[in-house]
Amino acid sequence: MFLTKDEERILEGESGSVLARAMKLIVTIGDLKSAERLVTIKRSQVAGVSYKTSGDPTLELMESLADEGVKVKTHSTQNPAGMDLERWENMKVSPQFAIKQLRICNAYKNLGIKPVCTCTPYLSGNRPERDEIVGFSESSAVAYVNSIIGARTNRHGGLDALSCALVGKVPLMGLLLHENRRGSVYVDIEFEPNEESDYAAIGYYTGKNLKTGEIPVFTGLKNASNDHLKLLGAAAAATGSVGLFHVLGVTPEAKNRQLVDKWMVEERLSMDKQDLKSIYDELSITESPDLVCLGCPHFSLNEVREIAKKMSGRKVKRGVNFWVYTSPNVYDESLKLGYVDTIRSAGGDVFRHTCMVVSPLEEMGFEKLISNSAKACFYVPRMTKGESMCGLASQKMCVDMFTE
Ligand code: F3S
Repeated sequence: MFLTKDEERILEGESGSVLARAMKLIVTIGDLKSAERLVTIKRSQVAGVSYKTSGDPTLELMESLADEGVKVKTHSTQNPAGMDLERWENMKVSPQFAIKQLRICNAYKNLGIKPVCTCTPYLSGNRPERDEIVGFSESSAVAYVNSIIGARTNRHGGLDALSCALVGKVPLMGLLLHENRRGSVYVDIEFEPNEESDYAAIGYYTGKNLKTGEIPVFTGLKNASNDHLKLLGAAAAATGSVGLFHVLGVTPEAKNRQLVDKWMVEERLSMDKQDLKSIYDELSITESPDLVCLGCPHFSLNEVREIAKKMSGRKVKRGVNFWVYTSPNVYDESLKLGYVDTIRSAGGDVFRHTCMVVSPLEEMGFEKLISNSAKACFYVPRMTKGESMCGLASQKMCVDMFTE
């Protein structure tokens, strides 16, 4: 890969050993994927924040990097942590876990990464422009910024996203290149989705049925909102590593039918009502849940407003916890607008910085979950070695069944 003189100097260690190692990782990845050169980025989303998923090795690595005094060169935000950084006791998280989690977040902050822990950085002040090249990790955020905003990022892992943020560059390859962003398979949705969780089921089904690297072009989703597509993309990214999808007539790169026709897509997959039912059947739990959890990906302000409206004047049934997860920014807004109080008055709660997948569910004592997110349904059993299960249900069903 071609490197400028400045980039070569960083690689040789003139800017210190941490940046040299970061540059080496980026160049190795670029060489493996035949990237021609590096490009400068202004934004990053860095993963590996939750103590549950990253443990002591990450804690030690991040503290040692922060001690070296290096700082990121991009506007960087952090993925969700394992708890609400302020109200962790209300989540039944242990002090032992909390101490280590706070140390990780503090190390990230000392590296210059904004203390904004969320998987929806694009709703929290870190929103790229259309066609802007960024270095994002967090698969749902990657799918969102590529597909719904039309920005460009590859699916970065934790360490490589951090390396790119420290150096301020990414290799020019993969989904950053126009020619690699064309759709490769039509996914015909042959029913009208009624509930937001139907979109999550569509993403789940699509991810499971695509081959690696395929880029779906959905037809039949003309009425999808950005919040619907947020759920769809998160599920497709979880089950099928989808980093980019198009929705005919809706998403920026597929708005124009004639341009889509030029991609000459020949492959087709379809999903009908029976397929939808099979996904709900697959993602169902028979026993009553101990936790109803909404906000995967983190709820937008609209979604918090909607659930507050549905819960207004009702009470969560005994024995059930009803939690909503969102970003710190949306939480602050929701607090000002009274939505958080409405949810709490109904016996529910709202947490920020975290989610059901990256928090220590086992020690919090939750085993049976219900969510409107198929991504959560996919990951919860995997993250708890099968000890916890998660069923799929719409917001409306959650309120109808678990409040009175
Ligand atoms: Fe976000 Fe956690 Fe879901 S990181 S996308 S809320 S699994």
